[in-house]
Amino acid sequence: MKRHHHLSLKRKSLPNVLLFALALAVVPLTLSQTPSATVPPDDAAVRQRADALLKQMTLDEKIGQLSQLFDFRKEQATDDAVAKGQLGSLLFVTDPAEINRLQHLAVDQTRLHIPLIFGFDVIHGFRTIFPVPIAMAASWDPSAATKAQTIAAKEARSVGIDWAFAPMLDIARDPRWGRIVEGAGEDPYLGSAMAAAQVRGFQGDYIGSPDHILACMKHFAGYGAAVGGRDYDEAYIPETLLYNVYLKPFHAAVKAGIGSAMSAYLDLNDVPATGNRWLLHNILRDEWKFTGFVVSDANSVKSLQNHGYAKDVYESALYAFNAGVNMEMAIGFTAYSKSLATAVERKQITVQQIEDAARPILEMKIRLGLFEHPYVDEARARQVLATPEHRIAARLAAERTAVLLRNEGGLLPLKKNAYKKIAVLGPLADSQADTLGSWAFQQDLAETITVLAGLRNKLGAQAELSYAPGVQIRRQIPSFFDAIFNLKPQPIWTPEQSKDETSKAVALANSSDLAILVLGEAQNMSGEAASRESLDLPGEEEKLLEAVAATGKPIVLVLLNGRPLNIKWAAEHVPAILDAWYPGTQGGNAVANLLFGDAVPGGKLPITWPRDVGQVPIYYAHNTTQAPENQGKRYWGEESTPLYPFGYGLSYSNFAFSNLKLSRSEIKPGGTIDVSVDVENTGASAADEVAQLYIHQQYGSTSRPVRELKGFDRITLGAHEKKTVHFSLGNDELTYWSTATKSRVEEPAAFDVWVGADSNASLHANFNITH
Ligand code: NOJ
Repeated sequence: MKRHHHLSLKRKSLPNVLLFALALAVVPLTLSQTPSATVPPDDAAVRQRADALLKQMTLDEKIGQLSQLFDFRKEQATDDAVAKGQLGSLLFVTDPAEINRLQHLAVDQTRLHIPLIFGFDVIHGFRTIFPVPIAMAASWDPSAATKAQTIAAKEARSVGIDWAFAPMLDIARDPRWGRIVEGAGEDPYLGSAMAAAQVRGFQGDYIGSPDHILACMKHFAGYGAAVGGRDYDEAYIPETLLYNVYLKPFHAAVKAGIGSAMSAYLDLNDVPATGNRWLLHNILRDEWKFTGFVVSDANSVKSLQNHGYAKDVYESALYAFNAGVNMEMAIGFTAYSKSLATAVERKQITVQQIEDAARPILEMKIRLGLFEHPYVDEARARQVLATPEHRIAARLAAERTAVLLRNEGGLLPLKKNAYKKIAVLGPLADSQADTLGSWAFQQDLAETITVLAGLRNKLGAQAELSYAPGVQIRRQIPSFFDAIFNLKPQPIWTPEQSKDETSKAVALANSSDLAILVLGEAQNMSGEAASRESLDLPGEEEKLLEAVAATGKPIVLVLLNGRPLNIKWAAEHVPAILDAWYPGTQGGNAVANLLFGDAVPGGKLPITWPRDVGQVPIYYAHNTTQAPENQGKRYWGEESTPLYPFGYGLSYSNFAFSNLKLSRSEIKPGGTIDVSVDVENTGASAADEVAQLYIHQQYGSTSRPVRELKGFDRITLGAHEKKTVHFSLGNDELTYWSTATKSRVEEPAAFDVWVGADSNASLHANFNITH
């Protein structure tokens, strides 16, 4: 299947003088410094322009567009390749002066003056760092994600970056997988909403909108299902899960107009994603009508050899190319640059195919306005980065993403004058890097507000704050990025030092009126190549927590994390637990506002929170089976329910759901039902609630999950305010891909509907789909 042989098309070559004249016609020579296209370009005109360019390009120039290299350090070989038109793109260049220098090489030195497109991992902010993606999903507020990525795009574009390798749309149901932090969690419906929202944020109204950049959905597809949660491992995903779960957010991004996609590292059902024509061609282009371009993940073309799929570099290039990878991302050299010309010569691929691969890349460069505005205004960059408005947006985002997991006895919000002495404890309490989370490279650490700093800002002289880390956590094996960014591991404490530090922390708690513990994982414990075999609090954190709790002082646990952690003990013994995730640049200020009630937590879990790692994978949308009455009692002597269900999160207020109404109790396939519910804030202060709608198809051509999210709405209600929330159930919500019929179906059946505050919602109604 992977071996496609096509006859090559013979190209007539044009005389050079004519080519140069054509180039002048295509590439305007006036170059202004602010890239902007105030109206969406006409599709036909973009295509014509790309075709006109392709007509003038030599085979080598066309192949050049298909290569992308990392440029961590200014290397002569990169300069030479750019000047010769052997590269279409660079990644990991972030200094605007360097971007301009390289762009000048491309524009001034190459025959057709084709600009480079600069890509970068703009994952949760560029200079102003927003909460990590899993946290943004916990906001259950797609507009917050749009806003965050709009700002990220603006900052990135201001230094000359045109293309973000985001959003990551991998559904992840295994928190051992380190990259769960980069996505929207376990659910395809929430994941799809966050996908479309981020595409809007990065790309604006259309590709080429002023101050916006191209987005890239990744990793296509199935990467999050790696066996055992081990990063890069193979995944076996049956078609029912692919269509109904894993592919859904990607499809949503395509519908939202995303311009590029990244292939994944994994081996999907024995065919590596980067060589998988079914994924990259049949699904992406034939079924979904995607017209952008596909970039490989870093080195994933050459890695087709590691997968045992290709026998050498040449075959790797051939298979990835035939599968539908337009551009190869690589370190050092690309397989494409070494192989594709030969493949054309050997008539294994055609010039036409090379043109078809290069065309969408050129089209994106045209749409982004790079031909007219290849350079960046270095002075403007400094004005755009980390403005006060961006920081405020980052703080508001962090306030919206935190999830209140426990609040026994209403310890939170803390009363400002009630605690004269507060001990702030834990290895993450004053660590700037760990406040940001992984995939943040361009931040200015000095700008980052830790929880300790945020509490100081809030309380000033009102309370006496003391701080001790108590324990040390560190990652055992340094990551790829640690080396690139010269991150040095901290000096390790001796066993005696360790004991002293813990005693010091406990003593501080003892002499204070309140202890705030900031625990969780160090920044590089989640992210790429950061899977864990355990979800326990790392190092000695649990011991510190229990020792501090033993003082009998009121304690609040603030978690900084990119995945659910084992907090079984804390969930019974610590009265207040706030999950702040990795909250970003303004994280500390946001946490301080939340703890003292100047902001009210309203986030909800985008992932089921297991009691312990042995329950993994555990997700709410599972099927019912043999003994549904035993659903919660499947382990010997243990609860098999999760610690916290999907969609869970508390507030400082309380809410009541009532008056669930369906506009009809029966529809034909294709019909629509309106659902409404009243939500009332029964408390005495304004707060947010997320109304969540779940359905269950009771029978059909295949078993269906016990519950599936099919609508949600985050609303703000004043004290005692009541609002009616509306949802609509139609074809999109009621069809699924049936493995029995091998097609999308809307089946006659009885359905349950629940609406409420999490996936255990109990307010219930029924309807039927009839023939
Ligand atoms: C590898 C990662 O898998 C991908 O997500 C990232 O965009 C590229 N490296 C570039 O850094």
